[in-house]
Amino acid sequence: MKEVKNIITIDGPSGVGKGTLAFSLAEKLGWNVLDSGLIYRLTGYLSLKEKLNSPEDIIFHLNHSKIKLLTNLKEKICEIEIDEVVLGNELRNEVVATKASEIAKVPEIRNAIIKIQRNAYDAKSGLIADGRDMGTVIFPEAILKVFLQASPEVRAERRANQLKEKGMDVIMHDLLKLIEQRDKDDMNRKVSPLKPAQDSILIDTSELSIKEVEEKVMENYKKL
Ligand code: DC
Repeated sequence: MKEVKNIITIDGPSGVGKGTLAFSLAEKLGWNVLDSGLIYRLTGYLSLKEKLNSPEDIIFHLNHSKIKLLTNLKEKICEIEIDEVVLGNELRNEVVATKASEIAKVPEIRNAIIKIQRNAYDAKSGLIADGRDMGTVIFPEAILKVFLQASPEVRAERRANQLKEKGMDVIMHDLLKLIEQRDKDDMNRKVSPLKPAQDSILIDTSELSIKEVEEKVMENYKKL
């Protein structure tokens, strides 16, 4: 029989509401949150900041750094500590996201961070795992797999609001183009492309509030 773990995976494109849903479910269930995109963003950030141009250099840097995933349930954000420096907001901009998506195409990079992601699971507390390949590759044994969808326009609007809240300037047209390009790259890459796991539930969040999305997930969870 297939082993099942107390993990809910939430996959989907950028700006679809994965992070918000992850934290509201975590609060409800008392589970931990893994924001796997943040680890890819860290590779993007390091490659830009430290001018690491090859996958080998990035992997070497990751393997020789002390990396800790931090979940701040109160503030509803994940952060990463690398060699005692905590990175959060530095990773949440579109330049880093675009670089992250580019680096995420490299199989060696994906393999190098599988362990960091799987180590985020602790059977005692349960895990909500947010990303692109959580249900298909990283946690196929999750008890429930959710795939969120929404139109690119709705997602760009949501992402714009998030960026504006952080005081960043946003040009809607450029943001929409960036999001569409990133989706295309994430869906069409050869390794671990963005796609729903066969056994996932699909939810279109375009017309739904976060409460309604949460209710749909909880209904499915209670039925298990
Ligand atoms: O979820 P996010 O927007 O922070 O992710 C940034 C990029 O990282 C995303 O465009 C593709 C990559 N990513 C990935 O390839 N696999 C994941 N599980 C999460 C993110």
